This record gives sequence, structure tokens and C-alpha cells, in this order.
Amino acid sequence: MDKFVIHKSSLKGSVEISGSKNAALPIIAATLLTDEECKIHNVPCLSDIKIMIKILEVLGKEINFEKNTLVIKTKKKKNYTAPYRLVKTMRASFCCLGPLLAKRKKAKVSLPGGCIIGTRPVDLHIKGLEELGAQIRVENGYCEAKAKNLKGKRIYLGGPFGSSVLATANILMAATLAEGETFIEYAACEPEIENLALFLKKMGANIEGEATPLIKVKGVKTLGGCELEIIPDRIEAGTFIAVSLATNSPLEIKKANPDYLTSVMEAAKKMGASIDVSKESSIFIKPPRNLNPVNITTLPYPGFPTDLQAQFMACLSKAAGVSLITEKIYPDRFMHVAELNRMGALIQRTGPYAIVEGRQNLYGAEVMASDLRASAALVIAGLGAERKTQVLRVYHIDRGYDRIEEKLKKLGAKIKREK
Ligand code: EPZ
Repeated sequence: MDKFVIHKSSLKGSVEISGSKNAALPIIAATLLTDEECKIHNVPCLSDIKIMIKILEVLGKEINFEKNTLVIKTKKKKNYTAPYRLVKTMRASFCCLGPLLAKRKKAKVSLPGGCIIGTRPVDLHIKGLEELGAQIRVENGYCEAKAKNLKGKRIYLGGPFGSSVLATANILMAATLAEGETFIEYAACEPEIENLALFLKKMGANIEGEATPLIKVKGVKTLGGCELEIIPDRIEAGTFIAVSLATNSPLEIKKANPDYLTSVMEAAKKMGASIDVSKESSIFIKPPRNLNPVNITTLPYPGFPTDLQAQFMACLSKAAGVSLITEKIYPDRFMHVAELNRMGALIQRTGPYAIVEGRQNLYGAEVMASDLRASAALVIAGLGAERKTQVLRVYHIDRGYDRIEEKLKKLGAKIKREK
């Protein structure tokens, strides 16, 4: 297993953001809705993407992935089971269920196990597909769905934590081939859903209202191949905003779409940063010498993203005061608290709240990465900490960041990957 060895760094220059992992994953699954060739550009080179490619190959697709472009064709065999050994390593593959069912009338996908950020229920996915007329059986760790033909319906998809991104994706994809009209109420408004809807419309789907809480779909008979560019990864861009804040380094973040980051840029400004955006979709951030504390509550888009909670907690660990972080999406998503405290942070977690008492300095330590975004938080803390930090199990980071240490090194960071 690899580790990162990191020393305190001050950075400068510009970084280019890769395509969005969370847009690419459901869009790759959407190619199951057609047998024609699909071309997808600006796909980040990540282990999660490679797992989704493997799952689609098991399901009968032939995929070529080079220079961030995916070309997806259909081979002969038409399997319909996404195997546990692959799905267990990447929960997002559950979003193969909807398109598989809609196209092949049956689907069998392993249930995503729980993970470090909390249980990953799929009740909304199942409810939505049953409302479209699927017979669903959940047994020995698999979700099996059958449907001769899906029928459009008005479906309420809100859960105890608000909207669900991948449940919205699953139901949206299934509805494109269902008979009649489907209305998805309390749909997720994330930009990744908007990118998926654009892909589906290019395939011939009839969709209105994407990126709003009410999406209307008119079913069509078949969908064809198409070509699409994946949107920039707003979470990677937000991660580099946190890098700038934690190392007191002015940065230019290129190929990011600032419109996806309003809540994040507002938090950074409250912490004292000045931020400009350019029409060539660059974000220029100039952090303050000392960070102000700020209260952050994670919410569904356009609220502050839960996927940036850990990274901003790392920054606030060195703010001049006390910050309150409220995690409303995954109340257990605090694995990074213990590791940050080992670096000298003073964070108290109670339930979905974390009280962060800013300290003058953090101190390097040997810390353990746990989930993808917590690992990024530890790298950020290490870049701003005295002495040496070692982040173990960086395979977590490779799941969601395309060569993050290369990008950081180019900015002048003292970081190296060791076996
Ligand atoms: C997506 O996961 C992202 N993953 C996650 O990013 C992100 O944290 C999450 O959305 C929230 O923004 C991908 O897009 C691949 P949800 P998803 O369904 O769709 C509850 C990362 O780091 N819920 O929007 O699985 C759920 O427990 C990953 O890139 C139900 O109750 O998340 C959570 O509390 C981590 N029932 C809330 O809804 C369901 O059927 C939001 O989850 C589904 C979800």
C-alpha cells in the first residue's frame, strides 16, 4: 500500500481540474440504455472509473479508455448481473440497476455494503423503481429487479436526509424508456444530475426540469449513441480552495466552473479569502494570513457539499476561533476528526456536530486515510502542519483524485508517494 510523505509547504501557480467522478459514473452506467456507440470526453483517470468500466464489461460492453476519452460499444453477450466482487468496492455501481432493468427488463446488482461514512441505504432507489412497475427482490446481498415494461408515474423521492443523487440518477435513467410520463419530485439538483440528463437527451430521451426538484420525463421507445464532455469536478476544485486556505497560498484553479461552487466560495470568503472568477472558468483565490472561524452546515446542492466537509474542517483546525460544523447528509462522516486531533487539532464531535477550536499550529504525524474525502483532508492538514506527516492507505485518494500529488507538486508542495 502506498503512503504520502508530506512537509509544510507554501504553494503558488495554477492547477487544472479534471472531469467530475460523480458525473462520469452514472453517465457510464447510462450507456447500458443503448446498444449503439457512445463517446465520453474529459473522463478522469480514477480507480472508481476503472471499476465501473470492469462492471460494464461484465455486462457485455466493450470499452476503450485513453487520454480521458471513453468509447463504449456493445459486444454480443448480454449478462445482467453486476457481481458483488466489483460492486462491493464501489457503491456507486448500484446506479447500473435502473438502466439495466429498463433496457434488458431484468437486472441483478449486489447491494452496496455500508462504508466508513455511514450506511448507504438504497430504499429510495428500490421505491422509485417499484413505483415504475418493477418487481424487486432483495436477498442474499443482491437486489434483483424484473419488469416486462415500466410505466411512468409521479414519484416522491425525498428521504430523511433530503434528496438522493444516485437514486435520482437511477430513476431518471429507468424513466427514459418507461411508457408515458414520469415526474420525479424532490429530485437531486446536483450539476452531475444535469450532466447525466444532457447525456440522456443527446441519446434521444425527453427530459425537462433537470437541476430542479421536479424532473419530468416522457418515455421513448429506444435511445441511441451519443457524444458528451463531462463537467469539471466541483469537489476537486473545492479541495484546492481548501489547499489554498490551509497553506496560505494564492492559487489559480483552472477549468473549474465557479457557478457550481457558490456555497463553498462564500465559506472561503467568510474565512477571509478574496476570490475572483474569470469567464474562462478560472477561480483566483487569495487567502488571508489568519483564517476566521466559520460555521458550516452540509446540505444537498446548492448547499455546502458534504464531500468538502472534511477538507474545510482541516482548514478550520487552524482558524483564529471556534467553528461549528453540522453534517446533515452523513451524520457519521467524521472519521477524520480523530486523525486531525492526532495532529494537534482540538475538535469535539457530538452526533452530527463537530466543534473545531482553531489552534496556532498543527503538527505532522503518521495518520490513516479512511474515506476518499477524509484522506484529502489529511493531505491538506499535512501541507499546513509543522514537521513531517505520513498519510497511509492513499488508495482511498486514488479513488477520487486524478494524480493529486502530481498536481500538488507542480504547485510547489513537498509531497511524495512512497511504497
Ligand atoms: C452521491 O452519493 C455521491 N457519490 C457522494 O460522493 C456524495 O457524498 C453524496 O451523493 C451526497 O452528495 C456519487 O455521486 C458517486 P445520496 P449517493 O443518495 O448518491 C440517504 C464521494 O466522496 N439515502 O445523495 O449515494 C443517504 O444515506 C461520494 O465522491 C437514503 O436514505 O448519496 C444520505 O444520508 C461519497 N436512501 C443521503 O440520503 C437512499 O435510498 C444522501 O445520499 C439513498 C440515500
